[in-house]
Amino acid sequence: KLVFVLNGPNLNLLGKRQPQIYGSDTLADVEALCRQTGGAFGFDIRFHQSNAEHEIIDWIHEARETASGLVINPAAYTHTSVAILDALNTLEVPVFEVHISNVHRREPFRHHSYVSGVATGVIAGYGIQGYEMAIRRLGTLLGQG
Ligand code: DQA
Repeated sequence: KLVFVLNGPNLNLLGKRQPQIYGSDTLADVEALCRQTGGAFGFDIRFHQSNAEHEIIDWIHEARETASGLVINPAAYTHTSVAILDALNTLEVPVFEVHISNVHRREPFRHHSYVSGVATGVIAGYGIQGYEMAIRRLGTLLGQG
């Protein structure tokens, strides 16, 4: 089964960017973790990052045709993008929203998410382990053991 893991703007700088908030693991570490976790459930992981909203939307459209589940850290677009919300609303498979940091203890503008209203589940503040948790949950929901 195909699982998409999508990452929004500035996450390419993970590990270098505000490590006191986001930790020292890099996006390559996140990808390795997702592949390792997904592998245990027989998932084929499509892992992407973009700083451009339209690219994220195009991957959601691709997931719509092919994926059994989707994990997304929309980063700053979480708090701004009706377009990503609309794209996610076209999916019929489980969607998990992941944030590395606990957005609720940060600035008030990070407390609202456009994505949460359509997500199957939301994980925040577990570091990059949140991605692993989301993929494990997909394993349970999709009956992959
Ligand atoms: C983030 C939280 C967002 O508020 C922020 O804009 C990010 C990363 C997180 O993973 O904690 O870029 O999604």
